[in-house]
Amino acid sequence: ALALVRPQDLAGLEVVVSAGGTIEPIDPVRFLGNSSTGRQGIELARAAHERGARVRLVAASIDVDVPAGIEVTRVSSARDMHAAMDTAARTADVVVMAAAVADFRPKNVVRDKIKKTDGGEPPVVRLVENPDILADLAHQRRRPGQTIVGFAAETGDAEGTVLDHARAKARRKGADLLVANDVSGGRTFGSSDNSVTILDRDGSTVASADGSKAAVAHAVWDAVLRARA
Ligand code: CTP
Ligand code: CA
Repeated sequence: ALALVRPQDLAGLEVVVSAGGTIEPIDPVRFLGNSSTGRQGIELARAAHERGARVRLVAASIDVDVPAGIEVTRVSSARDMHAAMDTAARTADVVVMAAAVADFRPKNVVRDKIKKTDGGEPPVVRLVENPDILADLAHQRRRPGQTIVGFAAETGDAEGTVLDHARAKARRKGADLLVANDVSGGRTFGSSDNSVTILDRDGSTVASADGSKAAVAHAVWDAVLRARA
């Protein structure tokens, strides 16, 4: 492969990136998960490392290898990820939430494996809402001057376009940048390409990027540098 020497424009910065999909246990052998592979998050970590940042990856379930030189904290559930991000955010200059965090988790983890009840009522799994890690980190900054980046996987619907939903989310979350992703028709998940619009906290478009997840990752870091300038 072609070895690119990147400008070391993130040198001196400590960054933390979350990636992958959280796993929310139902019983000892079952869980609620999602189809995130972690690829966009890994590419963000790789790109930052190539550009000279000190990088920590907080990884829930991921399908891909983590490049050398990146420190990894492995987590499982949304609550584990929240704790790991809280710790990492205390010293980080930039926080990127690229993980697919489960919005809900089973209220109670059943201690023993759930059995089929012959002809009986199927079990009901009651859900409760998980903490919103991005909103928490954005609204309660762990460090002054920290830049916080979120992702939004959106589909257009009767209520609005992908961009309408993303703009509303940017304002609601309070992150400095929100990377909006069109996931209509199951695009993006598991693929190596991505197409994103990067919004600021008012919902204004600051950049868009199209291409490999690596190219998108570099465009996100470019936007982070501009936001910090
Ligand atoms: N996120 C988070 N904690 C959660 C849910 C989401 O930190 N409990 C983060 C994601 O990592 C992402 C951003 O919030 O950076 C947006 O996630 P998304 O699922 O698009 O937004 P939600 O606020 O969960 O809204 P909804 O799923 O209803 O669209
Ligand atoms: Ca969600």
